[in-house]
Amino acid sequence: MIITVASFKGGVGKTTTAIHIAAFIAKRRGAGRVVLGDGDLNRSALSWYERGGDRIPFVVTDGDAVPDNYQHLIIDTPARPKDDELIALAMNSDLLIIPTTPAPFSLEATLATLSRLTALPEDRYRVLLTRVPPRNSKRGDRARDVLLNSGIPVFNGAIQTRTIFEDAELEGVPVYALKGTVAQDAWSDYEAIGREIWKEWGKS
Ligand SMILES: Nc1ncnc2c1ncn2[C@@H]1O[C@H](COP(=O)(O)OP(=O)(O)OP(=O)(O)O)[C@@H](O)[C@H]1O
Ligand SMILES: [Mg+2]
Repeated sequence: MIITVASFKGGVGKTTTAIHIAAFIAKRRGAGRVVLGDGDLNRSALSWYERGGDRIPFVVTDGDAVPDNYQHLIIDTPARPKDDELIALAMNSDLLIIPTTPAPFSLEATLATLSRLTALPEDRYRVLLTRVPPRNSKRGDRARDVLLNSGIPVFNGAIQTRTIFEDAELEGVPVYALKGTVAQDAWSDYEAIGREIWKEWGKS
């Protein structure tokens, strides 16, 4: 399975999503060799991996040097792809994940671009709502409705805003490796997304 993570705005959780979806597939599914290809020149995923070492259950490679002996490949990308780049990313993947926050600036960019990209096959991509405010989950629900009403596929689950994700990044581990219920709740958000992915694309 090849999964690519891309977005129209920076800082919406692409790298965090790539790390945690790779962790889900590697850890929970014990599903062969999982490789995360870091295709962003700032190499955030790679430095996350270098900090964590063997506490990460998959391999992260420089995007220019992806090995060919993977079973599942997750690709992290820089923000703001051009329209044709995005279509190429989708066509070369089984699934393109597009994280967006419910904040108007992020949601509007996602909505405007995806409404224009009618060449993007619906079974190849899905929007993931990230950084959803915890005490105001209506924000997330409203954002999902707006996207669905425009015919854009969205994951049923969403990732809440939790500062523990920054702690995980700092330590170089997936969030489940940290102690406490907040860490486990944060991991549960990504697990639910992982299950949705596995159900639909797991045989790819
Ligand atoms: N659900 C979340 N709750 C709180 N903080 C988060 C969440 N997801 C990501 N972050 C934090 O937000 C920042 C940006 O996240 P991340 O690096 O994953 O985004 P990105 O889309 O890859 O950014 P860039 O476009 O710069 O590559 C990071 O510091 C990360 O720890
Ligand atoms: Mg990134």
